[in-house]
Amino acid sequence: MELAPSILTADFTRLGVEVEAALESGIRWLHLDVMDGRFVPNLSFGPLVIQALRPLTERYGALLDAHLMIVEPERYVQTFAEAGCHSITIHAEATLHTHRTLQRIRELGLKAGLALNPGTPLTALEELLPDIDMALLMTVNPGYGGQKFIPTSLSKIARLRQLCADHGHATLPIQVDGGINPATIAAVRDAGATVAVVGSAIYNAQRSVAESVAALRLALATPQ
Ligand code: DX5
Ligand code: ZN
Repeated sequence: MELAPSILTADFTRLGVEVEAALESGIRWLHLDVMDGRFVPNLSFGPLVIQALRPLTERYGALLDAHLMIVEPERYVQTFAEAGCHSITIHAEATLHTHRTLQRIRELGLKAGLALNPGTPLTALEELLPDIDMALLMTVNPGYGGQKFIPTSLSKIARLRQLCADHGHATLPIQVDGGINPATIAAVRDAGATVAVVGSAIYNAQRSVAESVAALRLALATPQ
């Protein structure tokens, strides 16, 4: 399973050091949570921060994956492409034009992802399976790091895995985002998720990034 750290709870006064610690632990996928204060109550950061990280992540061959929690993401996909993202994930709830926006992301040469909030049914994604390179299921309500995993997400992940298989997209990457830690990661993997977005269980005051990454890998390697 791929680990994709979210830097939301990292120490922003030393962001480069925080990101490099993850890269040194073998991380090759960075998840960048962009929030606009409208789609979600919180504000985070924008393309400038992503652009600043690009030379560092490029040295390690790591991917920059933007999770846009913003309304009408079509207004900004080009800006995030120019900032150096390799992939952009938009929310099905954030635009009337999911299909057009996903096409546009691909036209820009990036991988396109579609995210669903916990309350959004999988049918919002079904029509778009041919148009996406990955799916993201929110396993908390978006907006903040450090929230508790919503247990009913497990059956939703399993149903999405089945839906993908039924439509000839058995290998579509499924990301899960929110409340993933050593206690929940094996269950989401077993349900069919392939990419674990991890924020506060990697960036926290209790352990170093290397120790936190090791704890997650151990949880994945331990028989349930
Ligand atoms: C929530 C974000 C997540 C979040 C994950 O709105 O999309 O990426 O920061 O944080 P944890 O792992 O702490 O739930
Ligand atoms: Zn996210």
